Amino acid sequence: MESRFTWMNGRMVPTDQATIPFLTAGFHYGIAVFEGIRAYKTDTGLAVFRLREHLLRFEHSCKILGFLDLPYSLDELTEAVSATVRENGYGDCYIRPLVWLADGGWNLTLDTGKPHVAIAVWQESVYLGQRSPNEGLRACVSSYPRHHPGAMMTKAKISGNYVNSYLAKTDAHRQGVDEAILLDADGYVTECTGANLYLVRGNTLVTPPVDAILEGITRATVADLAADLGLSVQEARLTRDHLYVADEAFVCGTAAEIVGIREIDRRPIGTGQTGPITMALREAYQSAVRGRHARSGGWLHYV
Ligand SMILES: Cc1ncc(COP(=O)(O)O)c(C=O)c1O
Repeated sequence: MESRFTWMNGRMVPTDQATIPFLTAGFHYGIAVFEGIRAYKTDTGLAVFRLREHLLRFEHSCKILGFLDLPYSLDELTEAVSATVRENGYGDCYIRPLVWLADGGWNLTLDTGKPHVAIAVWQESVYLGQRSPNEGLRACVSSYPRHHPGAMMTKAKISGNYVNSYLAKTDAHRQGVDEAILLDADGYVTECTGANLYLVRGNTLVTPPVDAILEGITRATVADLAADLGLSVQEARLTRDHLYVADEAFVCGTAAEIVGIREIDRRPIGTGQTGPITMALREAYQSAVRGRHARSGGWLHYV
């Protein structure tokens, strides 16, 4: 993972100098909030996809966790992201803003410490299956339930929440599959470890309701792109058996983009290959992020 410069508490530093002291409460207890954003090379320059929406969710995540006074405004963060992307000088790249509890906070409250903020940028890396986009992923239903929204704040990208994802995905990999699908405590489908989930039934896209999931920006993007293609989109409670009999299934997220699922719990989904609707949405998404879609203008922030 190559990264040249990191913006840390207002200063641009070489990434190998962007370090935090071992005695930092946020590191010990997972008290941090982050975003995952991508920038893409377009015909008219490098552009960050849906930056405003990501930074708004970043602010909301901080508020949900309880960081009430962030040291930087939305506009300052927007400029800091742009500057870090420019300074690193990559083409396609991944952007990781993170705020963590520092300068105290050892008594298990946020108020005795301070939020520190950094933004890293690294060269684009393959997250899920993009090397063989048409082949699709093999997935399993995890034995780990998703966080109950009464116990963990699932609308926030809080670092500590991702222990649940690490448990589920490590287990999935050790079983020889690519990704885990998590059910909620009542047995309804929620999302994957770092991406949302859609099923295709006929000409309808179905996705779990927002109850216990991270409300993905790609999930919302897919809903818009699907409507453009004349497909209907529904939120519905889905059970494990719905997964098995879907015509198509795919994951979507900033890192994953849109990737088909070809198998769940050793049952082929549809034809066992990425289906035509998933392919059409993948193409529409690639046009959107590359500045070649009618919606690109409203979604791209040129740096
Ligand atoms: C748990 C989880 N769900 C869904 C998503 C997809 O969100 P987005 O499309 O905003 O990247 C992510 C990725 O950030 C995630 O970590």
